[in-house]
Amino acid sequence: MPSIAQRAEELCKLLNYHNHKYYVEAKPEISDREFDRLLDELKDIEKKHPELQAPDSPTLRVGGAPIAGFSTVTHRVPLLSIDNTYSAEELKEFDKRIRKALPGEKVTYVVELKIDGVAISLSYEKGKFALGATRGDGEKGDDVTANLKTVRDLPLRLQGDKPPALFEVRGEIYMTREDLVRVNEEQKKKGREPYANPRNLAAGSLKLLDPKLCAERRLRLFTYGLGGVDGIEFKSHRASLEQMKKLGFPVNPNVEAFDDIDQVMQYAMTWEKKLGDLPYETDGLVVKVDDLEQRRRLGNTSKSPRWVTAYKFEQEQAITKLKEIEIFVGKNGVLTPRANLETVQLAGTRVSHASLHNADYVRTKDIRVGDTVVVIKAGKIIPYVLRSEPGLRKGDEKPFRWPTTCPVCSSPVKPDEKKVFYYCTGKNCVGKVKKILAGYAKRGAMDIEGLGDEMVEQLVDSGLVKSVPDLYRLTLDQLLELERMGKKSGQNLLDGIVASKERGLGRVLAGLAIPHVGEAVADVLAKDFGGIDELLNASVDRLMQVEGVGPTMAKDIHAHLQDAAQRQLIEDLRASGVKLTAEAKAKPKGGTDLGGKSFVVTGSLKNYEREDIETLIRDLGGKASGSVSKKTDYVVAGDKAGSKLDKAKELGVTVLTEEEFEALIGKGGKSGKPTAAAPAKSEPPAAKKKQGTLF
Ligand code: IVH
Repeated sequence: MPSIAQRAEELCKLLNYHNHKYYVEAKPEISDREFDRLLDELKDIEKKHPELQAPDSPTLRVGGAPIAGFSTVTHRVPLLSIDNTYSAEELKEFDKRIRKALPGEKVTYVVELKIDGVAISLSYEKGKFALGATRGDGEKGDDVTANLKTVRDLPLRLQGDKPPALFEVRGEIYMTREDLVRVNEEQKKKGREPYANPRNLAAGSLKLLDPKLCAERRLRLFTYGLGGVDGIEFKSHRASLEQMKKLGFPVNPNVEAFDDIDQVMQYAMTWEKKLGDLPYETDGLVVKVDDLEQRRRLGNTSKSPRWVTAYKFEQEQAITKLKEIEIFVGKNGVLTPRANLETVQLAGTRVSHASLHNADYVRTKDIRVGDTVVVIKAGKIIPYVLRSEPGLRKGDEKPFRWPTTCPVCSSPVKPDEKKVFYYCTGKNCVGKVKKILAGYAKRGAMDIEGLGDEMVEQLVDSGLVKSVPDLYRLTLDQLLELERMGKKSGQNLLDGIVASKERGLGRVLAGLAIPHVGEAVADVLAKDFGGIDELLNASVDRLMQVEGVGPTMAKDIHAHLQDAAQRQLIEDLRASGVKLTAEAKAKPKGGTDLGGKSFVVTGSLKNYEREDIETLIRDLGGKASGSVSKKTDYVVAGDKAGSKLDKAKELGVTVLTEEEFEALIGKGGKSGKPTAAAPAKSEPPAAKKKQGTLF
């Protein structure tokens, strides 16, 4: 029979072992019930023999006695802060500085998630958790040991037989989003203010004087670095992370190593969208030099080590109230939800509306009318609702119900199979018509001067225009009946409409709201088929032979073009004199035929809007696409070109400045040949002139 002391020791070990299996490894070996039974047995013993309660007893996880206050501790090694980077350029600068300081040396970077919580330092003496302190001012912090003992994934005793004499790890105390919601629900029941985010809640919890209350918060831990250690040495950061894992510390599994900063960047980009899917908050990535000897040589600036940087995703967030979800009808009849918000300042603009993408997004993210929502800007421009904060609900928020009839034309609404999109079934839905007309008139399509969104509204609401061909039947007298319409602007609009007849097939197709057919695909289709009749007669298989057209696209395009109403519309356009062949009559101001070469434009240009230069490229017989691949012939790079330029360099694609592009197309007094400054990966596109000469 073991003595009571032996049994207490045994239970302590056993429970710590199972605790680690459950919380750190997420591989429980015994049931919760069995765990509780063992815990109760230990509690019983400790109650009768308080002297047997070990300092690392798992019974302490529920929280020891309240404390009077937090004593101040001086950190053995200061907890420094880290520098932030926000762009590929800044990350490259970081790499440059490191390479300059370590000339000719191989440098390996370790990339980790930047957990958004509270920094802490944990000291283990002879394998036992002895002291846990907050960062404080970096030199001195608060002793929060009692509260930290309640953190389930924090090892109270290190695993293994020969623990180092001193082992101090650095890590982040955090809280899952789910636990924030749970705590906020309890706050609500108690009539207290909810917490705004998990970081504030984690920080507040560590400062509770009653560890029992702290235990209820279910704080969690990830460790990512070392402080002072004695009795153990490492050569690399990765080796220290491995050792931490062996000793029982929770190390975040998302750790990767790269020898090249471009690879770090590529990896970082894969995380940009995924970070929101993690069950806890992160605010970017941390990039660290792996070799500890190199780190020593790199040293610190006054504020932060030179061997580390945080790569933050530049996502300014705003928190506001979602007042209403408004539905708009898109050109294909898709009902698009938009969040009407209490106006809020976000990344330099006042934001009152934000995208909600589609029905599925609203449902899976459980975004309700009345919710407090987090808004960010996609591509730094278009605001959208990232998520709601269910923990901040008051009870009067309402799940959004999709209308059963179209809010514009009252036709029945039908969801697709997966209920991702809801469609208006009305053939002549005014909402849809307005979108189609606006899409038809826009710059990359028929480029009709004077036909903006407001004009479209007026034309449709007055009943003058019910479909695209109606545009070509408009008369000046009709236009003059419209409010605020003078003779001059009426005539301008008519001239714009007439001029559009000559744009050619590519632009017509770009404007007809054909599924999957944007400007680039429209252009390829026009060039491939040459005329509308060839396209209308094309089978699905034939469509699939077109570059960039896959089976789904081919099927949808085919179905759309077989539709009787679409056929009628095309015949009406033909009858109105709209050019439905691929010759582009309008003569661009540039020169040379680009002979089917493919271009990607990136960064901001001095003389062109993006859309305009892409249109020019297409009009000159080239292809303009949005992403760089091996098939890209040229990348035209303007100011602040980012990842596309990087990719072009990586793939060895020829990069042109704006001036070099203009020289290539023979603009600006030069001939149609590229200048010497334009290194040609392939032959300059001068010889093969498709569809007649443009100039
Ligand atoms: S390494 C010299 N790694 O970010 C400091 N920090 O803004 C080395 N953080 O104070 C820190 N996740 O609290 C490191 N994987 C990670 C991290 C991380 C979160 C926190 C940490 C630090 C703050 C800097």
